[in-house]
Amino acid sequence: MSTTKNILITGGSGFLGPMLAAKLLNDPSYHVVLTDLQAPPQPAGVSDTASLERVAADLTSTSDIDHLLSTRPSWHAIFIFHGIMSVGCEENLDLSTKVNLGATQSLLKAISSLSSKPRIVYASTQAVYGPPYTTNGTITDDTPATPVGVYGTHKLIMEAHINDLNRRGLIDAFAVRLPTVTVRPGAPSRSAAAWISGIVREPMAGLECSIPIEDRSARQVICSPRVMIENFVRVMNAPSDSMPAHIRAIYMPGISVTLGDMYAAFEEVCGKERLHLLKTEKVPEYERLLNSWPQTSDFGNARRIGLVFDESCSQVFREYVNGLKK
Ligand SMILES: NC(=O)c1ccc[n+]([C@@H]2O[C@H](COP(=O)([O-])OP(=O)(O)OC[C@H]3O[C@@H](n4cnc5c(N)ncnc54)[C@H](O)[C@@H]3O)[C@@H](O)[C@H]2O)c1
Repeated sequence: MSTTKNILITGGSGFLGPMLAAKLLNDPSYHVVLTDLQAPPQPAGVSDTASLERVAADLTSTSDIDHLLSTRPSWHAIFIFHGIMSVGCEENLDLSTKVNLGATQSLLKAISSLSSKPRIVYASTQAVYGPPYTTNGTITDDTPATPVGVYGTHKLIMEAHINDLNRRGLIDAFAVRLPTVTVRPGAPSRSAAAWISGIVREPMAGLECSIPIEDRSARQVICSPRVMIENFVRVMNAPSDSMPAHIRAIYMPGISVTLGDMYAAFEEVCGKERLHLLKTEKVPEYERLLNSWPQTSDFGNARRIGLVFDESCSQVFREYVNGLKK
C-alpha cells in the first residue's frame, strides 16, 4: 500500500497556499496538488516537482471539482483557501455568494461523498467577530460571532455548515479563523488590512504606502506567515476530538498590536530614513471594517491544541525584511 499522503490546496496561486505547499514538500511523504483558476505557478523554494501538481479549476463548476478530486486515488488533507477577500466581497455580494458560499459548499459536498475522510482545514477569518464584542474587550472561545461585513458573514455561514457536516460524520474538519497574516509579498490583496503588509513591503521597495487610519492606538491582530503555516500543519495533525463535533472553529494565534507599535517596529526594522514613505490617507469604509475586527483575544482553543505564537511586531516585520536578503 502507498504511504504517500496526498494534500489538496485550493487558492493555490494566492498568498498562503504556495507557502504551505513549500513547507509540506520538505517532507517526502507528501504529494501536493495546488489548484486555482489558472494552474498556479511553481511556489518559491520548491525544487521537488515530482511531488507537486498544479491544476487549473474553477471551483464554481461542479465538474471542475469532480475532476480535481479524481486526480489522486485518496486524500490525506484538503486545505480550502480559495476565495474573495473583504473589500472584494463588500463591492460584489454576488461574487462572494458564488465563490465564498457556493463553490465552498459544492466542494464540501463532493468531499463528503468520498470513500475516505480527509482532514479538511477551512480558512475562515477573524472578521467573523464584530461589535460590540470586538470593541469592548478580549475575544474568548465563548464570544459570539457578530460580523458586520459580507466577507465575515459568508465565512461564518460556511463555518456553521462545516460544524453541521462534521457533527453528522460526513466530513472531518476544522475551520481556522485567521488574523491578518503579514507581511504578504507581491501585490496588495483586496483586503481592508492590505496596508498592514504594505507598511513594510512598499517602503522596502522604495514605494509609498498609504495607511487608511490615523489613530495610533487602534489595534489589529496580526501573525507572521511562518507561524500561520506551522499552525496549519498542526491543525492538519490535530486529533479530531480536540474540539466538540459541532464546534470546529479555532481562532488562530495572533498578536495584538497598535498602529503606534507598527510605526515603532518600522523604525527599528526598516529604518527611520524610510518613515517619509508612510502616508496617512483615511478611507472610512476600510476604517469601518478594521475597527469592527478583534483587538485582543485569549486564544483559548489555540493554546489548548498546542498552536504557536509570534513574539512581537518587530519580529514579524524583521522576518520579511531578512527574507529579502536571501
Ligand atoms: N491572508 C490573510 O491575512 C487572511 C486573513 C484572514 C483569512 N484569510 C483566508 O485565508 C485564505 C487564503 O488567504 P490568501 O491570502 O492566501 O488568499 P488570496 O486572496 O491570496 O488567494 C485566494 C485565491 O482564491 C482564488 N479563487 C478565487 N475564486 C476562485 C474560484 N472560483 N475557483 C478557484 N479559485 C478561486 C483566487 O484566484 C486567489 O488566487 C482565504 O480564504 C482568506 O479568506 C486570509
